Amino acid sequence: MTQLIKKTIFPGMTLILFLLTIGCINQDKATKETVQAAPQEELLQLSLTPPMGWNSWNPFGANVSEKVIMETADAFVSSGLKDAGYTYIVIDDIWQGGRDSVTGILYPDRVRFPSGIKALADYVHSKCLKFGIYSDAGTLTCGDRPGSFGYEEKDAKLFAEWGVDYLKYDFCYCPDYASLHNDYKMAIARYKAMGDALKATGRPIVFSVCEWGPRSPWLWGREVGGQLWRVSYDVGDKWDEPRNEQSQIGILTAIDVMCDLERFAGPGGWNDPDMLVIGLKNSGFIKGGGCTFEEYRTQMSMWCMFSAPLMLGCPVNNMTEETKSILLNKDIIAIDQDPLGKQAFRVWRKDGIEAWKKPLSGDRVALAFLNRNSKEVSITASLEQLEIDLKVDYKVYDVWKHEIVKQPAGAITTSMKSHECQVFVLTPLANQTN
Ligand code: GLA
Repeated sequence: MTQLIKKTIFPGMTLILFLLTIGCINQDKATKETVQAAPQEELLQLSLTPPMGWNSWNPFGANVSEKVIMETADAFVSSGLKDAGYTYIVIDDIWQGGRDSVTGILYPDRVRFPSGIKALADYVHSKCLKFGIYSDAGTLTCGDRPGSFGYEEKDAKLFAEWGVDYLKYDFCYCPDYASLHNDYKMAIARYKAMGDALKATGRPIVFSVCEWGPRSPWLWGREVGGQLWRVSYDVGDKWDEPRNEQSQIGILTAIDVMCDLERFAGPGGWNDPDMLVIGLKNSGFIKGGGCTFEEYRTQMSMWCMFSAPLMLGCPVNNMTEETKSILLNKDIIAIDQDPLGKQAFRVWRKDGIEAWKKPLSGDRVALAFLNRNSKEVSITASLEQLEIDLKVDYKVYDVWKHEIVKQPAGAITTSMKSHECQVFVLTPLANQTN
């Protein structure tokens, strides 16, 4: 008997899980002040800030199982990830066992998910977390499992019955049923078919469009019902690798892909430069060679500057202190989750140094400096170059040092390690309450 069956079938346990779930709903109400929203209203409220959670692909790939998901849910609570705002636990590809040839109903791999997906979703919900799953707009998934093409309504209904709160929807094996020029329209049609099917279930399910960017999903992602859309190919555990269809890209390439897409992001719809590789250190499923501490911290900094979805991609039940210091930094997470929902844009570039600016609520501004060089550098940028209002006096807070830093009048100056990113929040002194 599996651990999950023991936990769900044990007399009284089902009732306990149910009561715990009700507890979560009440907790949600108290914290978010949401009153029993009708389904349509709940849909409108989905992902008003970028979704935060974890996805199984980077660390586990084809070895994902109910044991892994349960341990991840437990670790979310014990490590402080849940308290820091990470909510969705998403099973990526290769959870599927097949599709029943008579009923057409999808079923999970019976060895790795012996208790079934509904029981697993219940377990995740009992921890006051949300549960996500993966499918594909084509006939097969990227891992050659059954895709949802032609089964959109059936699959959406099944996912809703299982208690799914988030669907990542990939684009492999999509029938190229018209000319190449129709490729764009075909993507819209396939994603709309699933977006509509999800809406028809009446359950609020975050719809993660994963077309990788070639057909500009930022132009139609919202229209098809998406709350986030991938803008890049898969990010590997590596710093720099150019964009191509054959191999994973590096963190730096994903940053460049996000440039100029800021006008498409905002509450309810986010550009997604892929999952985080922080903490992998070349372990797990996707590999890539690994990154330095500074490079991992840069990924976190820039994803937060971009208001990107923060989907963790490392095993979370044995994170090092270094990894925790990055993933649990509440100051940088607050930049990602700022209610204005503005994506940063590049304001300044010189000698391999870039400055990115993100307007925040309360007339504050976040500024990130990124050192693309393989050497340490010192920089000074005037507030004018950084397009900061010179008439306003600001307090400057360093979100990685967690302290207010003194800066010369009219400029920001700092020295940076190779591939480091430093982030500062500028708060108008007049806005300070103390
Ligand atoms: C594609 C996606 C990845 C992952 C795999 C699973 O490559 O871009 O994020 O979901 O498929 O097969």
